Amino acid sequence: MSEEVDFEIDSDDLLFRQINREIGDPSVIVEDLHVTYHVIGSTGKRVKPQAGDTRLKRLLRRGAKHSGAGVAEVKAIRGVSFMVRHGESVGILGSNGSGKSTMLRALAGLLPAERGSVYVSGKPSLLGVNAALMKDMTGERNIMIGGLALGLTVDEVHERFDDIVAFAEIGDFVYLPMKTYSSGMAARLRFAISTAVTPEILMIDEALATGDAAFRQKSQIRINEIREQAGTIFLVSHSLATVRAMCSRAIWLDKGKVRMDGPVDEVADAYREFSRRTVKRR
Ligand SMILES: Nc1ncnc2c1ncn2[C@@H]1O[C@H](COP(=O)(O)OP(=O)(O)OP(=O)(O)O)[C@@H](O)[C@H]1O
Ligand SMILES: [Mg+2]
Repeated sequence: MSEEVDFEIDSDDLLFRQINREIGDPSVIVEDLHVTYHVIGSTGKRVKPQAGDTRLKRLLRRGAKHSGAGVAEVKAIRGVSFMVRHGESVGILGSNGSGKSTMLRALAGLLPAERGSVYVSGKPSLLGVNAALMKDMTGERNIMIGGLALGLTVDEVHERFDDIVAFAEIGDFVYLPMKTYSSGMAARLRFAISTAVTPEILMIDEALATGDAAFRQKSQIRINEIREQAGTIFLVSHSLATVRAMCSRAIWLDKGKVRMDGPVDEVADAYREFSRRTVKRR
């Protein structure tokens, strides 16, 4: 499978512009962070590939190792340290499985650190494809639960309800269980809920890729508004053009470790070179 890296500037991405803000005090400090997933229902044994295996055979055998009753460990983040200040926009780059989403979830306090520490000043909010909405519940219930999870009061959720539904453009579907929504409708509601508040630390995980073209444009405008108010931004994206346009700094994760951390253009150039070589080898 090829990596989802785009090398081209997409004209849509030019909606984003760098926002020059004052760089202030530290807002996030990560020290020697380790995050490990414990996967139940796996024997944890590595399956060695055998000569003559087809891709499908390998895949089926890999699936078989999960049928046991053991607990396997996946070390997703392995000793990451960095400091980010108020006013910085940081792009997180890295290939599939390098630990980007895991790191954001740990920063948002959704996953515990196995070792090391995370200090955040202000309440972080993760805006992304992982926001947990419940499929069996109506959009209305999800708006309430999501709003409360973002720190709103019941009254504040009621106040913002109409705006959220209008932004998501789901109309009366809001009163139906979310399992009746198309994936685009669900993504739009998730986006509308997560952007109902302006967090101090905004984390975006591939959220821009959801919805159709018109909604993408609308969501980019909304993200720009939030970016202007939020203190610190983390953006995970496979679009280097988006990261370059939105961020001043980038951190490149590779197999759960920081491979490079610096000005966005330097890191993006190095990552692009690395991805090109990887694509050639595949
Ligand atoms: N819920 C989970 N349980 C077990 N292992 C997981 C879980 N989520 C992620 N992992 C593993 O942790 C590692 C890092 O995954 P993560 O989702 O953070 O990568 P990523 O950089 O966000 O990748 P992508 O670009 O595909 O979104 C991978 O090896 C992945 O298989
Ligand atoms: Mg991810």
